[in-house]
Amino acid sequence: MAEAKAPQQRGGQTEDVSAETLAEIGLRFEVDGEIATITLDRPDKRNAQTFATWSALARIGDSLPEQVRVVVVQGEGPSFSAGIDLRMFTPEGVPGQGSFGSAARLDSASFEQRIQEAQQGFRWLRRPEIVSIAAVHGHAIGAGFQLALSCDLRIVADDVKFCMKEPALGLVPDLTGTKPLVELVGLAKAIDICLTARFVEADEAMRIGLAERVVAGGDLAKAVQDKAAELLSTNRDAAAATKRLLQGAQSRTLEEQCAAEGAEQIKRLRAMFGGAA
Ligand code: ACO
Repeated sequence: MAEAKAPQQRGGQTEDVSAETLAEIGLRFEVDGEIATITLDRPDKRNAQTFATWSALARIGDSLPEQVRVVVVQGEGPSFSAGIDLRMFTPEGVPGQGSFGSAARLDSASFEQRIQEAQQGFRWLRRPEIVSIAAVHGHAIGAGFQLALSCDLRIVADDVKFCMKEPALGLVPDLTGTKPLVELVGLAKAIDICLTARFVEADEAMRIGLAERVVAGGDLAKAVQDKAAELLSTNRDAAAATKRLLQGAQSRTLEEQCAAEGAEQIKRLRAMFGGAA
């Protein structure tokens, strides 16, 4: 197993994604050939997430070794993730990271920047060059649900409980989860799930398209491993080009999509057989 390339330069600052730093934040990151695994690793606090978690996720994305094609996101202990660290709601907040109270007092531009930085921890999981798989068991609440939604695929254990808790707490989901949720389950079901903050369990998750596969808890790691192997069996560049096409499909007209298919294909053929640039 190898660590991420570390340290990285980002915004002029040296970014540390060493195992020790990640451990302090409650994360593990391992690379085994073409597969990278991110583990939320604060099981005693049900893998609750902080700004430091999201910033570290972004740094992992920035320093992802080039050979990686599949990224698995999983949680240690009984829950995938119980969402944002509830200390954020207290006046003291999370030591060194502030609270929602302090965030509310930021000017709009600074607040927007803070949110965007947090969202960077989630956004890179959609890159065309990789396929991300959330291996979800137990509770996936709020930020935990949104992290699972950031991944391309969700393979879930039969004890899974998704919940978009934010509206119940007076917040909106703002960690990139609303778009994939609507795309996966449709607007009406997304409204139902978010505005009731109810739990979505395994059978329903499978039925409404939130999960690709449900397995018994003990079989989750093997099911994810098998899916990763299947994904690695296709051509790397063709897979990335195909994912780009699929990601753009909904926002293009049929004519535009046909043109995009042609443009990608000519690149593939020229890469295979040579030809005009
Ligand atoms: N933030 C901080 N600590 C947490 C969180 C959290 N989100 N969730 C659980 N913990 C801590 C508990 O305080 C407890 O700590 P302690 O042992 O020091 O008392 C420990 O994790 C275990 O929690 P339990 O509640 O005892 O675990 P249980 O398995 O019974 O329940 C569950 C798990 C359902 C996830 C429950 O902990 C829970 O509801 N957590 C809060 C969920 C939540 O509201 N998240 C915010 C969503 S909104 C957003 O993410 C933006």
